[in-house]
Amino acid sequence: MGGIDFEAVASASGILGLGVALGYFVRHLFRRLIDGDLIKCNDVRKKLESDLKAAAGERDEIKPQLANLNKLRNALTGEEDELWRLHTAEMPSEVASLLGQNRPKIITVMNLKGGVGKTTTVANLAAHFGKQGKRVLAIDLDYQGSLSRMLMLAANIRNTDAPRAIDLLSGNQDAVALQRQVISLQSTLDNVDLVSCGQSFDRFENRLMLRWLIGDEKDDVRYRLARVLTNNAFRSAYDLILIDAPPRLSTGAINALACSHVVLIPTVLDRLSAEAVGNFVSRLNHFRPMNTALHYAGVIGTLRGQLGGADVKDGAFEIAERGVANWTGTPYVFKSDIKYFTDLAREAGSNVGYLKHKDVKEAYILLADEIEKQLRL
Ligand SMILES: Nc1ncnc2c1ncn2[C@@H]1O[C@H](COP(=O)(O)OP(=O)(O)OP(=O)(O)O)[C@@H](O)[C@H]1O
Ligand SMILES: [Mg+2]
Repeated sequence: MGGIDFEAVASASGILGLGVALGYFVRHLFRRLIDGDLIKCNDVRKKLESDLKAAAGERDEIKPQLANLNKLRNALTGEEDELWRLHTAEMPSEVASLLGQNRPKIITVMNLKGGVGKTTTVANLAAHFGKQGKRVLAIDLDYQGSLSRMLMLAANIRNTDAPRAIDLLSGNQDAVALQRQVISLQSTLDNVDLVSCGQSFDRFENRLMLRWLIGDEKDDVRYRLARVLTNNAFRSAYDLILIDAPPRLSTGAINALACSHVVLIPTVLDRLSAEAVGNFVSRLNHFRPMNTALHYAGVIGTLRGQLGGADVKDGAFEIAERGVANWTGTPYVFKSDIKYFTDLAREAGSNVGYLKHKDVKEAYILLADEIEKQLRL
């Protein structure tokens, strides 16, 4: 009675010890499990953090590309002008300095309206200035090839391996070799050489523009022609370069604007066409910063009398004068215009009127004299 049951105590403390040990073991097990999970969680968090960082980096890289794509999309849905202004233009300094010397004088004949006499103007002016003794290079930048056809037919030249507009804009041709191989029209047109153009030019121009837009071309393709024409081979060979531009703001047309001192704008002198001059000149203004040498825009009245009498012409002349005043350089409307000649219409560009018809020749001489005085050729 009243004695301690040692056996019971021993068994109870054994159970207690076992309980404590078990508890320790279980806690330890939990701890390890939890620690293990925590470590795993930590690893996952670190991985997530690094993934997030990488994603943020990629987003920063993609951002400007996305902005470019957006600009490209907007430009593609807007006017051609915007496409050509997508990348800021900076005229290469050596090109700017050589063009600044004004020799040879480079004149682009351009109007986005079709059939206004651009090609006819280039051909007849080339014939006249060549005859005067100026060394003239006529460049056809229209894939329709009307100027090439007109001049080559006149000079009786058929097929030729001579350099074409494509070669001038390809960016990898030797300018000296190009100049040596241009087509000489000497047999019929004194002192006139030609760089011709044909159908394949269209696809070439589009591909070149797209590659430039998406950054696949290393150089600024807008200055390809300027680089060739400011090469000494061309500078020393010519006094005057006349470029026939297409009625589009194509790669060729932009290259022409990027290397010219002067834009001549043939316009039918009726009211509607004269009204379009202001709009065209305003569009041209956007391209002036591209070429520091481009300063002169002159409107030439063409096809007078085709639609109406002298009163129509006079009204249109004033409208053209107001329109060309939008030009931020030197604007001018030539007093000598070119009337509608039945012979020219009938021959439809198969010959150079200057060479065949006295009245056509006289009209172009008057115009050329005024151009010469205006531009101090
Ligand atoms: N003064 C004129 N009198 C009569 N016909 C002319 C005159 N000038 C040009 N033509 C004729 O009008 C047509 C268009 O002329 P031209 O090819 O020179 O225009 P263009 O502006 O170069 O055309 P495009 O925009 O297609 O390049 C030709 O058939 C040409 O012979
Ligand atoms: Mg033409």
